Amino acid sequence: MVSIKKRNCEIWAIGGGKGGVGKSFIISSMGNYLASKGKKVVLIDADFGGANLHTFLGISKPKVTLTDFFDNKLPLNELIVDSSIPNLGLLIGTIRSLAPDSIKYTQKLKLFRHVEGLDTDYILIDLGGGTHFNTIDTFLLADKMLIAIVPEIIAIENVYYFLKNILFRKLVNAFGAHGLKHVVRDAWQNRGEHNVKNFRQLIDHLRGMSDPIRQIINEELSSFTIYIILNQIRTSEDVMVGNSVKSICIKYFGLNTQYIGYVEYDDFISRCINKRQAYMETYPTSRCAKEIERLTENLLEGRQLGIKT
Ligand SMILES: Nc1ncnc2c1ncn2[C@@H]1O[C@H](COP(=O)(O)OP(=O)(O)OP(=O)(O)O)[C@@H](O)[C@H]1O
Ligand SMILES: [Mg+2]
Repeated sequence: MVSIKKRNCEIWAIGGGKGGVGKSFIISSMGNYLASKGKKVVLIDADFGGANLHTFLGISKPKVTLTDFFDNKLPLNELIVDSSIPNLGLLIGTIRSLAPDSIKYTQKLKLFRHVEGLDTDYILIDLGGGTHFNTIDTFLLADKMLIAIVPEIIAIENVYYFLKNILFRKLVNAFGAHGLKHVVRDAWQNRGEHNVKNFRQLIDHLRGMSDPIRQIINEELSSFTIYIILNQIRTSEDVMVGNSVKSICIKYFGLNTQYIGYVEYDDFISRCINKRQAYMETYPTSRCAKEIERLTENLLEGRQLGIKT
């Protein structure tokens, strides 16, 4: 079933499984750049347990949070606080009354409905690390799904694991809508019998089961795209890691990814955080700021690094 999205804003989310790779820095900086171009942007800190996005904008932690949405029934737009940057609002995802793991499905649906109804041009969602299903469902809500990685083996392994969880949940949800949830689970559990060794082979195996199943998979995956951002690079070889991740995604998931850009390592980023300054405002002409601008433009224009798509 193809869902028709009526909203006027576009939702971007950044995830990636591993903690500390720069998700919050990148998404807040992309938001800052869009806002500087006159777009209305709401940044949502969806690290439900450890929200810290405000520190990247140089402001203190807002007092209103999603707690007020769930417990005090305040409308979402009243929980968006001004950042120090024009056009850029911030919504903090902390839910004090709930453990981050215990947001109920119905609460989540309500939250997503209200998020989609916000009056803005862009909603940029910062996810926490890990692969909890709340993180994954929030990621899957987005129109554009971004993954931040650093050029280290462990980070790349985490991306593999993250993507596996994303795709699995996406397929289970899609099959569930047709009363076929068990099909994906059974096929994965019994993968040895069908010589299925990775996710790509699972998808091929499912496609071969019947025409309706092939149709569900095609509808879900044909336009499914993940956008890759490489962070904290130090050498020109590091830049190439983005291409390796692309190859891994094709090989193991049959997934076409877009490598939209990289960001160099820069000590001034942590200095800004410590001094409560927004990096893009403080160092707008730095190489990192220009790299953030370029990768955001690539995303807007449907380009990869130097390649027109
Ligand atoms: N390009 C970079 N160069 C230097 N330092 C960076 C860069 N990007 C991020 N950092 C630093 O890495 C640290 C982690 O960044 P950040 O908090 O954005 O990661 P994260 O992926 O959001 O982490 P978490 O999963 O814990 O939310 C920060 O202290 C930041 O200063
Ligand atoms: Mg973060």
